[in-house]
Amino acid sequence: MNVNIINCLKPSLWCISRRKLVDLPQTLSVQISKRSYADTPKVPKNVIGHIYSASSQPQNGRVYDRKPFKIRLYPNKDYMWCLCGWSKSQPICDGSHKSPQFKSELKPIKFRVEEEKDYYLCNCKHTKLRPFCDGTHKTV
Ligand code: FES
Repeated sequence: MNVNIINCLKPSLWCISRRKLVDLPQTLSVQISKRSYADTPKVPKNVIGHIYSASSQPQNGRVYDRKPFKIRLYPNKDYMWCLCGWSKSQPICDGSHKSPQFKSELKPIKFRVEEEKDYYLCNCKHTKLRPFCDGTHKTV
């Protein structure tokens, strides 16, 4: 982790620390940690991604929403992430891709997680790390 030292020389100098304005007393040294890419929270992995490749379908589905969906997932359970974007049970597949009404050739992505916790699943259907949100929705 990178650490910067900022010395504030004037009394009541406003310094920006972690997006907050902080009134600092004279000559106070403040340590601010710089978040490097290596420090950012990792996007989880599909633990069965080597069996059910998420990249076998290069097309992206219809944008359902421009933000991810937070969902609690459990290990040793298979999930099907909607890729076509037509499921009414987003972000999980409800079989809508089979409907002749939508004429979708995109199939859901089967995935599993390593541990029980909350995950952010992609709803824009443009993530590069299917089915997890990788921030791509900001550019869609
Ligand atoms: S919702 Fe698709 S990348 Fe975040």
